Amino acid sequence: MDYPQILAPVLTFLQCPTPQAWIDKARDPQHLPLLLTDHLVCELKAAQTAMLLVRKYVADKEGADALLAWLHPYEAFAFRAGPEPDFIALQKQIGKSVMPQTDDPWGRKLIDSMVLLIKEELHHFWQVREIMQAREIPYVKITASRYAKGMLSKVRTHEPLTLIDKLICGAYIEARSCERFAALAPHQDEELKKFYLSLLRSEARHYQDYLALAQQVSEEDITPRVKLFGEVEAELISTPDEEFRFHSGVPV
Ligand SMILES: [Fe+2]
Ligand SMILES: [Fe+2]
Repeated sequence: MDYPQILAPVLTFLQCPTPQAWIDKARDPQHLPLLLTDHLVCELKAAQTAMLLVRKYVADKEGADALLAWLHPYEAFAFRAGPEPDFIALQKQIGKSVMPQTDDPWGRKLIDSMVLLIKEELHHFWQVREIMQAREIPYVKITASRYAKGMLSKVRTHEPLTLIDKLICGAYIEARSCERFAALAPHQDEELKKFYLSLLRSEARHYQDYLALAQQVSEEDITPRVKLFGEVEAELISTPDEEFRFHSGVPV
């Protein structure tokens, strides 16, 4: 697999690389349980974001409810301290439920890319969980970083601008995840290194899907909004951050 080729557009899109101080802290094995836990939750939140977009913007009640039911056991476990479901059995069910339908071409594209994204994020969720279990890292609820909140606070409050901005935020979160996996990989043991590198291709595609959807729904060129969110994102990444998480800024 040609990693530099996958990474090149991601690095151009992001306005700053991950600070060395974050990499130094993240590579310290004592922070691995925290990092894996946050990574696990981020995978679920990525799936949840995609699910909520389809539910909100594609008016098909039955299909939307099926998506909600799909994520429910994962959410109950991760956010409400529910019992750990049989994730292997859940993985097998994926794709068998009713998927949302629409006649609108843009809606169709949203459903297709978001359903694929949800499948992939839930698969990543399970992969992280498996690694945690093998290393006897228990799942403990942790607080979210300022990162996503910081970007979403700049989302405009009327449609379709809200949707456009949310899609651009999605693109940045996916692109940063991709960049961080690549930055972390060289400092890990063989198993984790392989795992992080295996995530690059899908996360790079997710960022491009979000960006393409944003441009398709917008009547204007989205470049100025992309630039603005790029600045906000780079600020969150390159300024001191009290909390250490997968998407946090410079550790203090
Ligand atoms: Fe993922
Ligand atoms: Fe992703």
